Amino acid sequence: MRIALSTGGGDAPGLNAVIRAAVLSAVNRGWEVLGVKRGFAGLLGEDEVVHLTRESVRGIAHLGGTILRSTNRGNPFCYPIRQADGSHVEVDRSDELIENARQLGIDAMVSMGGDGSLDIARRLCAKGVRIVCVPKTIDNDVACTVTTFGFDTAVNTAIDAIDKLHTTAESHDRVLVLEVMGREAGFIALHAGVASGADVILLPEIPYDIGKICEKIAARERAGRGFSIVVVAEGAHPKGGTMQTIGPSLPGQAKRIGGVAYVIAREIQDITGKETRSLVLGHLQRGGMPTGYDRLLATRFGGAAVRAIAEERWGHMVALQSPNIVTVPIEQVLRTPKRVEPGHDTVQTARALGISFGD
Ligand code: F6P
Repeated sequence: MRIALSTGGGDAPGLNAVIRAAVLSAVNRGWEVLGVKRGFAGLLGEDEVVHLTRESVRGIAHLGGTILRSTNRGNPFCYPIRQADGSHVEVDRSDELIENARQLGIDAMVSMGGDGSLDIARRLCAKGVRIVCVPKTIDNDVACTVTTFGFDTAVNTAIDAIDKLHTTAESHDRVLVLEVMGREAGFIALHAGVASGADVILLPEIPYDIGKICEKIAARERAGRGFSIVVVAEGAHPKGGTMQTIGPSLPGQAKRIGGVAYVIAREIQDITGKETRSLVLGHLQRGGMPTGYDRLLATRFGGAAVRAIAEERWGHMVALQSPNIVTVPIEQVLRTPKRVEPGHDTVQTARALGISFGD
């Protein structure tokens, strides 16, 4: 048996722990393991395919990033090809990928990725590729799994930042607006905001009214609290408005979301007259060592992926359905994107504590 591993989309702390667990579980069964570099680029002649052994994965479980590297511009079904005039066309290179995998004697694949990679896996599976998936994203927006690895690390990074902002906000009687990642899901903002005692949390799932945000800040001021902390998910938007995006994306890339913190900070300062600063936490959330929770979850996913191959669960994703790891058909996972439920108990508790969602 010869299997191949690939990591696609934005990286997440814990990927190396999945790779290590999958390699060791496979090697201990007497299987051979290949690593496809940079998403699927290694199977399109754009990067390497390497042998992964016990030695290759020694001491990597605690390291951030991915030893296989990653890309969010490598969808083999619409691969961007640069033309002589500098423009790009998107080409379906899936047949080439499948032929290269066949020539390398790859019997099955493990694809680690978010919803973009899951959709690629679903389409490859429909073409006969024997593939299982491991859900990966700091955003935690993959359905059918309680959580994805990388999320806990990102939340802890955001909590650390908010704790630091608290002290300087208080010293200067300022409003500080922190933007965190998550695309169209507000899980990082909600979890980090509630855990660190933010005053306002803004989510894509609960459109905001800037007037309500300012009312909360003014109410704190009247109660003798001269500073406020606003945690905003990058995908948050005003009622009836749209998400902020940053410039054009590169060919083959999803639109980049971001910039809402700056807009909100300016509006808060204009309306309340309070000195307001904003910052974007950005890729710090994707870097660094995975937390113990993420390391264990990633390791469990890696082991489960190899078991899923042994059980021929093609087209399935491993998932945490506490307390167990199960497998779920990718089609079911992709049916409904996972978002924060506005009536979720975490939101209810936050409201009960006096946190405003700006609605
Ligand atoms: O999906 C993970 C994520 O980190 C999002 O939260 C964020 O919007 C995006 O990736 C950033 O992508 P890039 O690395 O292309 O800037």
